Order: sequence, then structure tokens, then C-alpha cells
Amino acid sequence: MRADVLRRAATAALLAVLFPGGAAAEDDGPLFECLICHGEERPVGTPELGGQPELYVLYQLVHFRDGQRKHDVMSALMEDRDNDELRALAAAVAELAPPEPASGEPDAARIARGAELAQSHRCGTCHLPEYEGAKHVPRLASQDEAYLLAAMQDYKQGRRIGARAQMAEVLSELSGHDLEALAHYFSHEGTSGL
Ligand code: HEC
Ligand code: HEC
Repeated sequence: MRADVLRRAATAALLAVLFPGGAAAEDDGPLFECLICHGEERPVGTPELGGQPELYVLYQLVHFRDGQRKHDVMSALMEDRDNDELRALAAAVAELAPPEPASGEPDAARIARGAELAQSHRCGTCHLPEYEGAKHVPRLASQDEAYLLAAMQDYKQGRRIGARAQMAEVLSELSGHDLEALAHYFSHEGTSGL
């Protein structure tokens, strides 16, 4: 338990630096420290976690811990956690409600281009026809637009590989403008009524 207590103290100190307003003060549930960034006050570019398949979340947490995926805060938050702790976090994340589509006014031309690219590049064969994801494949529907774009750029440039290295291959022929159109399109997608 001692490592756990120390880690919690380190996390609280880190969050106090990041959020001097003291948003980390309340402990209500396993995701209390996570929802500071991933909850309603989410900074732009931080992913929504709601609706993500449990297995996908677990794999990402393991990747942050073990270094296959790198992000200063996420890697620091996962180091020292054992597999059971990561499983418990993934199970808690899987209980969160899926996000709402982006609230800003959609750009019709980019939506049309994104929809066309999603069809022609068959994103739905792995991410499922309504882009809700399953098992090790993430949900894309209504994800944060800036995050989607950054994630695709990370795959394309080899900064993020993923469990099966599929995404770099999928995106290899797409331009920067194409990725922007796809990010715009998916951020405005809900799962129902498409
Ligand atoms: C200080 C802000 C911050 C905190 C606190 C935080 N995260 Fe994150 N998290 C991020 C950012 C930013 C990313 C995107 C990292 C990247 O793509 O490089 C991320 C990525 C993730 C991802 C991957 C999402 C995806 O779609 O691939 C998961 C899962 C995740 N976080 C879970 C958690 C959990 C569980 C906690 C609490 C233990 C937590 N996060 C706490 C900022 C935060
Ligand atoms: C062959 C299966 C496959 C196809 C086709 C596919 N993907 Fe993926 N995608 C995956 C897998 C698997 C992952 C998770 C990889 C990892 O572990 O990082 C992923 C991850 C992603 C992510 C990261 C999401 C997050 O939350 O971090 C984005 C964005 C994405 N895909 C977009 C697309 C787009 C856009 C297309 C179509 C142009 C597409 N994918 C087609 C399998 C696929």
C-alpha cells in the first residue's frame, strides 16, 4: 500500500502545480484525478474517455505505463500502477457516458470531405459503421477534434505505433488537409441517427 500512498501524494502535488485553483481536492471515485482533465472542463485537445471500449482503454494505460505511448502527464500517472489498478481504471472509464458531438458550427465542405474519406478508406471496417469502436479499437464518434488530428499525425509520423501498427498504414496516403477533414467530421458524429 505504501507505493500507492506515495503515488497518490505525487499525483496530488503534480495536479496542484497544474491546477493551482485546487480542483484536485475532492476524492470521489477511482477517476477523481482523471476527470480534472478528461471531465466537463476538459482542455481543448484532451481526449474524451466516455464510450471508449474497456479493452482499448486498458491497452492505452499499459502503453503509457510501459513507454510504447508517451505523454508526460499520462506516463507519470501510470508508472508504478500494477495491472489490477489499470484494469480497475479501465473498468471505471467504460462506465462513463459517451460524449456529445462537437458544439461548434460544422463546416459543410469539410464534413462532406471527411465523410467521403471515411468511406473510401473504410474506417468503419475496424472502428465499426457508427464509429463507436469495440475491443482494442477506439471510438471516434464525437471525439475532441484537436485530439483526433494530433492522434492521426502521431501515427503518421511514427510517434505513436499502437498494438498492431495498423493506423500508420491506413493514413499513409492521406494529406494534412485530409486529416483535418476527418478530424472535423468525426468530432461532429453522434452514434445514433447517422
Ligand atoms: C493533467 C491532465 C490529465 C490527467 C490528470 C489525466 N489525463 Fe489522461 N490524457 C491526458 C492527455 C492530454 C491525453 C492525450 C495524450 C496523447 O495523446 O499524447 C490523455 C490520454 C488518455 C487516454 C488515451 C485516450 C485515447 O483515446 O487514446 C486514456 C485512456 C487516459 N488518458 C486515461 C486517464 C486516466 C484513467 C486518468 C486518471 C488516472 C487520466 N487519464 C488523467 C491528460 C490527462
Ligand atoms: C485495420 C483496422 C483499422 C482501420 C481500417 C482504421 N483504423 Fe483507426 N485504429 C485502429 C486501431 C487498432 C487503433 C488503436 C491503435 C492503438 O493502439 O493506438 C486505431 C486508432 C485510431 C485513432 C486514435 C483514437 C484515439 O482515441 O486515440 C484514430 C484517430 C483513428 N484510428 C482514425 C482512423 C481513421 C480516420 C480511419 C480511416 C481513414 C481509421 N482509423 C481506419 C484500427 C483501424
